[in-house]
Amino acid sequence: MITEQKNTLFKLDSIAFAYSEKEPVLNDLSLEIFEGERISILGANGCGKTTLLKILSGLIFPQSGEFTAFGDKIEQKNFSDKFSKVYHRKIGFIFQDSDIQLFCSTVYEELAFGPLQFGLSQELVKQRINETAQMLDIEHLLEKTPYKLSSGEKKKVAIASVLILNPDVLILDEPTSSLDPRSQSWLLRLLHTLGDAGKTLIFATHNLNLVPEVSDRAVLFDEDHNIAADMLVMELLKDEELLKRVNLVDDNYHACL
Ligand SMILES: Nc1ncnc2c1ncn2[C@@H]1O[C@H](COP(=O)(O)OP(=O)(O)OP(=O)(O)O)[C@@H](O)[C@H]1O
Ligand SMILES: [Mg+2]
Repeated sequence: MITEQKNTLFKLDSIAFAYSEKEPVLNDLSLEIFEGERISILGANGCGKTTLLKILSGLIFPQSGEFTAFGDKIEQKNFSDKFSKVYHRKIGFIFQDSDIQLFCSTVYEELAFGPLQFGLSQELVKQRINETAQMLDIEHLLEKTPYKLSSGEKKKVAIASVLILNPDVLILDEPTSSLDPRSQSWLLRLLHTLGDAGKTLIFATHNLNLVPEVSDRAVLFDEDHNIAADMLVMELLKDEELLKRVNLVDDNYHACL
């Protein structure tokens, strides 16, 4: 165990999830995630990474097994409006596809949406928007329409719309996709700052260069949707045979750590 002294944030105990009866996506999956951890969830396309992140974010619910988060048992039937609001305030989810996340007519409104939902005053919301836009270098985008932005700009706005609520846990699905190298470096610095501030960071990614930069622990899925490894990132990236077996890398992969 990597972080024994920490509090458990999420505990999945033998959970199962299927979008349709015929095709289980997650089956008998058990996993514990601790406060302040930086974890990468890895695996080939379709292995279930996004599905797992959606469960952790309270967007979908396991059909069997037990899921606890922040000490509470999480079930759809108990997920009242009030509980759901509190839950979603603690967890920020940055989607793989930013288009799903952005729905307002201006970036300003997009950033204001979450804080207004949580009852912050217009004045405080304006102040937070200015601070967040400055931090993410998107002040020049505030009056623009989200759907007309470039994909990298959309990603930054999506990240801003989550960070503005200052969640304890950040769940990021392929965070560097569509970011140019400069923006990727910027994001890495931001993630380091958030990690140093004690945030729990959970990533799904295929970008193996990113993995050691943003995480210490890796959970690797095989193509049958089972956890093939749960280990230190540095150990995993050296294990060429394992990475090839789950089809995450091809024969050209050579560990360069
Ligand atoms: N909304 C949905 N309805 C039906 N099936 C779905 C849905 N979302 C995902 N699936 C299926 O569930 C499986 C797991 O999908 P998931 O998106 O969790 O994979 P992933 O590991 O995130 O893949 P990728 O690396 O491509 O992002 C896939 O077979 C996918 O087709
Ligand atoms: Mg995915």
